[in-house]
Amino acid sequence: MKLTLSVIKADIGGYVGHSSSHPDLLDAAGKSMAKAKKSGFLIDYHVTRCGDDLQLIMTHQHGEDSDKVHKLAWETFVEGTKIAKKLKLHGAGQDMLADAFSGNVRGMGPGVAEMEINEREAETIIIFMADKTASGAWNLPLYKIFADPFNTIGLVIASNMHCGFSFEVHDVKDSKKIFFNAPEEIYDMLVFIGAPSRFCVKNVYHRESGEIAAASSTQKLAMIAGRYVGKDDPVCIVRAQGKFPAVGEVLEPFAHSHIVEGWMRGSHNGPLMPVAVRESNPSRFDGPPRVIAAGFQLANGKLVGPLDMFDDPSFDNARQEAKDIADVLRQHGPFEPHRLPLDEMEYTTMPDVMKKLKGRFKKI
Ligand code: F6R
Ligand code: MG
Ligand code: MG
Repeated sequence: MKLTLSVIKADIGGYVGHSSSHPDLLDAAGKSMAKAKKSGFLIDYHVTRCGDDLQLIMTHQHGEDSDKVHKLAWETFVEGTKIAKKLKLHGAGQDMLADAFSGNVRGMGPGVAEMEINEREAETIIIFMADKTASGAWNLPLYKIFADPFNTIGLVIASNMHCGFSFEVHDVKDSKKIFFNAPEEIYDMLVFIGAPSRFCVKNVYHRESGEIAAASSTQKLAMIAGRYVGKDDPVCIVRAQGKFPAVGEVLEPFAHSHIVEGWMRGSHNGPLMPVAVRESNPSRFDGPPRVIAAGFQLANGKLVGPLDMFDDPSFDNARQEAKDIADVLRQHGPFEPHRLPLDEMEYTTMPDVMKKLKGRFKKI
C-alpha cells in the first residue's frame, strides 16, 4: 500500500514562555485532525508536542508536498493561533510567517518532514522531534545510524543492509544539494555534515532498493524570515527494521548527549537531551535542548502507537550526561564555545554596539 507520512510542526505559542505547549492548543489541533480523518481525507493522525512546538503527524494518500495536506496543517495552526492569542500565550503565531496560505507550507515558517512509502508487511517508524535547536542536530545521529558500524552492527552483519545508504545533503545557505554514498564517501561527506549549521542531511536512502530510509525537516526559519523567529526545532522520520536499522540501532546515537546549537535565545551550544514527551519542557536557561522519539507500527496507514521511546531508564545516563555538559557550558556564560559564533547567533546587539563605538577602534 502506497501512503505518505507527513510531520508538520509549528510553534504557535509557548506556555509558559517558550517552555511548553498549552493543552488547549493540542485539543484544538486534535479536533481539526479528527474532522479530516472522519471525512476520509486523512487515514490517521497523532497530535503531540515537543516543548513549545505543536506536532501534527498524519498519514494519507495525497503524496508529498500536497497543497491540500499542507493547507490542512496551515489552517490547523491558524485556528490554534487564535486560541494562543486569546490565552495570551508567549509568541502566539511565532512560526506563521506568511499572512495567507499559498499552496505549500515550505518556506512559510512551519517545519515539514514527509516520505511516501510502500507500507511493508511490518512498517516500523520512529519520529524524532526536537525543541530549542536547529535542523543540523540530526546530522550526527543520522550518520551514526546509517553509516557507523560502531553504532549499527547491521551494516556489518545484516546482508540486507551491507550495501550501505546514500545521504542527500543540503547546503541550507546556498540552496544546493548533493548525494554521498556511504561507506565509500564518508570522508568527503563528513567535511560537510560535520558543519551542521550550514549542511544538513535531508534524506537517507537504502542503496540497493533506492527506498527512502529517513527524512528530516531542513527549514531555516531565521533565513526565511530574515530576522530572528526562533531556531527551526526540527523533526525527522526514520524507518526501522528489516533492510533498515533496528529500532535499537536507530535510538542508540541518543545514548550519549551530543552538542547542538540553539538553547537560550537560539544563540548557544548545548547538549541535546533525550526525554519522554512529558519531560520535554525546556526550562533551565530555556533548555537544554530536548529530543523526543515517538515509535509507531503502521497498519494500512493507521498509526499504531505511539510508544514514547525515550521513556526508558536506559537513557538515564544520557540525560545525566546532558545535565553535566549543561553545567560545564553554562560556566562559560557569554563566552564561546557556549555562546555561538557571531554570525550564528539569533539575537545580537553587534550592529548597534558597533555604531555606538564608531571611531573608538584604532588601528594597531
Ligand atoms: C530559543 C527560545 C527562547 C527565547 C527566549 C527569549 O529558541 O525560544 O530561548 O529566545 O526565551 O524569548 P523572547 O524574545 O520571545 O522574549
Ligand atoms: Mg517559542
Ligand atoms: Mg520551539
